[in-house]
Amino acid sequence: MKRARIILMSLVVLSFLISLFGQEFTYVGADKCKICHKTEKQGKQFPIWDGSKHSQAFKPLTSEEVKAENPDAPENPACLKCHAPLFEKAPELKEEGITCELCHGPGSAYKKLSVMKSRETSVKNGLIVYESTEAIKKQCLTCHENAHEKPFDFEVSWEKIKHPVPEKE
Ligand code: HEC
Ligand code: HEC
Ligand code: HEC
Ligand code: HEC
Repeated sequence: MKRARIILMSLVVLSFLISLFGQEFTYVGADKCKICHKTEKQGKQFPIWDGSKHSQAFKPLTSEEVKAENPDAPENPACLKCHAPLFEKAPELKEEGITCELCHGPGSAYKKLSVMKSRETSVKNGLIVYESTEAIKKQCLTCHENAHEKPFDFEVSWEKIKHPVPEKE
């Protein structure tokens, strides 16, 4: 009797979760974004990211130095949550560190050209956009606020990693 109740409860919870996350957008990895976001004309988003520390953020967890003190760092959620934050949702992308889709949302449905051309349709298909500088800063601070007790200067840091589409003439 009790067992049946537990099973029933689990089903209720499960169906609630499915309805909540009904649209199952999945993570496709930066190589997919690269196809269209690498040229000068597009704004070189891929090369800019690839050359930034964000694309390498998983690496420090595997360094000899870290391992000496923290042998479980590459598996430790307390480190991964900032250094490879998709470790649960997309473990295969762990080595991409802070990858495009962490900031822009899972790309399975919006990465098609016909969708990407429209901002509105992209958002309906999982693209995250930031409406203000404040919103961007807030996102950065989820990891950078007092990370390892280091100060974070948003303006300076944003200059280092930003990757706008160039203005069209
Ligand atoms: C098939 C080509 C293609 C692929 C693949 C693609 N994009 Fe795009 N994306 C575009 C085009 C075209 C635009 C329109 C931007 C413009 O004005 O040039 C765009 C716009 C964007 C924008 C700006 C949206 C806005 O209006 O603020 C973001 C962010 C973005 N893409 C992220 C990504 C990410 C992340 C991936 C990988 C998951 C990806 N794109 C894959 C073609 C693509
Ligand atoms: C709250 C987010 C956060 C957590 C949690 C976190 N880190 Fe970091 N870590 C950062 C940020 C941000 C930086 C970059 C700081 C900078 O350079 O300004 C960093 C830098 C580092 C560096 C230096 C990397 C380099 O390129 O030299 C190492 C090593 C490191 N973290 C290891 C760890 C380990 C091990 C853990 C888990 C015990 C951990 N971190 C947990 C955010 C975090
Ligand atoms: C999910 C966590 C996370 C988020 C969100 C995040 N970062 Fe980072 N960032 C890191 C980690 C971890 C590192 C260190 C990587 C390393 O050193 O290997 C880092 C490194 C950097 C660096 C290089 C630091 C240096 O001194 O060279 C800059 C710049 C930076 N982040 C800017 C930003 C900005 C701007 C935003 C918001 C748009 C942002 N980050 C959002 C985790 C994050
Ligand atoms: C640390 C977070 C972060 C990462 C990682 C990141 N972006 Fe962005 N990206 C932003 C923010 C914030 C903006 C500016 C706000 C916006 O347009 O939504 C932006 C803007 C963009 C734009 C639109 C620029 C414009 O002028 O309209 C494109 C396209 C884009 N990113 C693609 C990518 C691609 C492709 C990758 C990976 C190769 C990537 N981004 C990695 C945070 C990030």
